[in-house]
Amino acid sequence: MTQRKSAAPETQCIHAGAGDFPASMGLNTPIVTSSAFDYRADFVRYPRYHNTLNHDVVAARIAALEGGETALITASGMGALSAVFLGLMKPGEHAILLDGLYGGTMDLVNGLLEPLGMRFSIWNGDPDHLEALVTDHTRLIHVESPTNPLLAIVDLATVARIARAHGLISVIDNTFASPILQRPIALGFGLVMHSATKYLGGHSDLLSGALVGSQALIDQLRPTVIRLGASLNGQDLALLERSIKTLSLRVRQASANAGELARRLDQHPMIAEVYYPGLPDHPGHEIARSQMDDFGAMLSFRLGPGVDPEPFLDRLQLIQPAISLAGVESTICQPAFTSHAKLSPAGRVRLGIDERLMRFSVGVEALDDLWDDLNQALTAS
Ligand SMILES: Cc1ncc(COP(=O)(O)O)c(C=O)c1O
Repeated sequence: MTQRKSAAPETQCIHAGAGDFPASMGLNTPIVTSSAFDYRADFVRYPRYHNTLNHDVVAARIAALEGGETALITASGMGALSAVFLGLMKPGEHAILLDGLYGGTMDLVNGLLEPLGMRFSIWNGDPDHLEALVTDHTRLIHVESPTNPLLAIVDLATVARIARAHGLISVIDNTFASPILQRPIALGFGLVMHSATKYLGGHSDLLSGALVGSQALIDQLRPTVIRLGASLNGQDLALLERSIKTLSLRVRQASANAGELARRLDQHPMIAEVYYPGLPDHPGHEIARSQMDDFGAMLSFRLGPGVDPEPFLDRLQLIQPAISLAGVESTICQPAFTSHAKLSPAGRVRLGIDERLMRFSVGVEALDDLWDDLNQALTAS
């Protein structure tokens, strides 16, 4: 099949990277189950080398969606993140991290990378404060936008410009937005990573990650992912490929639901605060509007003083309390006990992550069913 480079994301989700298979194979990519290949071939394939047929198709599709030259698909988001830091930094080198990142990223930094001798500074998200953190040893800047779980927004074009001016690699965890809503490479970013477990997978049945960038940068990361052994198997790659076909439909529907639920929750007398970049009074609203196609399907809210978290969660009938996010089904969790449980108590207090903070991953169910469920659980608690 001829690939049109200019295809819209909806089309890329279904067609980008698809191979030309014999008619007898039908429309879908065959699943290559082998872990043993003839080593005398011109190009030696092996699943851990990230170069099987299923890997190549999914990598090409995600690269097309993100507007990058090429990609690597890993066994988890943490596999991708580990490769970023271990592949691009040496002991003694330094990276700048946006404040309020996913707890697992901070656990990687505190538990593995700092003990290896890498050094980190925390950036508060204000562009005026970024350049002062750059040292002679700085290699990269890593951000999320929107962040997990407080949905903070940073100005991506500015981060990318400052990184380029100092010869640094700009890295973004684009998990919360997905390439349907935000394409950081077009804004100047060097490297995009994903927990593909989330929107790319989208059905809460698969763990995976992705790294997208220039051929040169991905080639630099390839030996590290091979050494880490963080590759994804053929069956899960096929599942991921199938899921991406509906990525645009899912993300757009879930984002529309989230926008309306955020507005309604914001007016609800039992809710103390709502964190959602689509709300006009969110501090990052205007920047989000300028760099995202929609505001996403993740929102967080803090229960008001009259609502107890436990009964509220117990009384939800449709929305599932669950770790992880971005499935077709709506889920909810307390980041204090899940994604950010490994942060120090003081670190959680500083960020405002307490047991009353609920991270809500809005799914694609009917809006009014979700609203009725929230409302009845709030009223009964
Ligand atoms: C924003 C973000 N990045 C990275 C990860 C890690 O991904 P995985 O669980 O696929 O390793 C997560 C997981 O929740 C996440 O929310």
